[in-house]
Amino acid sequence: MRGWPPGGRRFHATETNAVSTPEFCIRPTTTPVATNVRQEILDNPGFGQYFTDHMAHVRWTKTDGWHGAELRPYGPLTMDPASPVLHYAQEIFEGLKAYRHADGSVWSFRPTRNAARFRQSARRLALPELDDDTFVESIRTLVAQDAVWVPTPRDETEECSLYIRPFMIANGRFLGVKPAAEVDYYVIASPAASYFKGAGKPISIWLSSHYNRAAPGGTGAAKCGGNYAASLVAQQEAIDNGCEQVAFLDAAENKWVEELGGMNLFFVYADGRLVTPALTGTILEGVTRDSVLKLAEEIGLKPEERPISVDEWRDGVNSGTITEVFACGTAAVITTIGALVTEKDTIGDPERSNGPVAQQLRKALLDIQYGRAEDKHGWLTQLA
Ligand code: COI
Repeated sequence: MRGWPPGGRRFHATETNAVSTPEFCIRPTTTPVATNVRQEILDNPGFGQYFTDHMAHVRWTKTDGWHGAELRPYGPLTMDPASPVLHYAQEIFEGLKAYRHADGSVWSFRPTRNAARFRQSARRLALPELDDDTFVESIRTLVAQDAVWVPTPRDETEECSLYIRPFMIANGRFLGVKPAAEVDYYVIASPAASYFKGAGKPISIWLSSHYNRAAPGGTGAAKCGGNYAASLVAQQEAIDNGCEQVAFLDAAENKWVEELGGMNLFFVYADGRLVTPALTGTILEGVTRDSVLKLAEEIGLKPEERPISVDEWRDGVNSGTITEVFACGTAAVITTIGALVTEKDTIGDPERSNGPVAQQLRKALLDIQYGRAEDKHGWLTQLA
């Protein structure tokens, strides 16, 4: 059996991540999804509903470190009911995508950025760090094996890809509140179309006035399940008020705009500034957010990372100083926000059309991701 680490050597991830890349032991499924069923799924995948034939797995124990890298058939996990992830939510995850280019090859976008954020999240959740090479190799191994699951866009407007979800969970059997000594890392993948039902249409956002997503010193900057669990009651309020997403303000003053339930926010100003809330430790450091900041400069915008209050949002939209607002994230890509709905007013127009700046940035980003524009930043990594 091909195994890892080579010769049974253990490692503990460090800041430099200088470890050898593992070779995953491949255990292919004997019951892959039938070709015609898979094709039907790929024709209309929705978001996060269907999964490919395999998943990657690496195990960690306090005594043996990371070991046993394998690719195995996608399927249910067996866990002890006293497994700590089920009780104390010691869990982190990532989201990235694989894109099929016109020549049939498959690429991912800035995977080492996700790897670095995954290590950062691990540190915050007292989980072991996985080195970047293993993170990328786990994705490459899964996507190479399940490459037939990567959708082919019908034209340049179609947004379809393979959404990749790496995650790490605390495992074992104990009820004491302490970091787990057994951990499992998995990667699953799901063919995906647009995250929002309107496929590229502007969305409305609900302003949460009763709930905050993150507090100073909390886990807001980590991509952990607990942050998303805590956002769900506010997300339900958004849906009940006819909105697609919820916006959160800071916990200290209930004044500063932070982020949406699952994506970052940008404001386009009439004078060419592009403002996004600064990373204060309570906001997730989005990979798309960072890419937008870089692309914005290239199209002549002046990016600013700074605090922005909900009053500035309201006044700016009402006076015309703010001409567009958009959400961005791996799942959301770049989606125009038509209106912010609060308990007392509606800021903007839910019926507005896509803003030109959001559209230009979205095209610039997608053109790189799908190999239609030069990858000047070296953001793409070939997977298959
Ligand atoms: C992503 O964009 O990858 C996320 O994890 C956000 C979630 C709304 C799907």
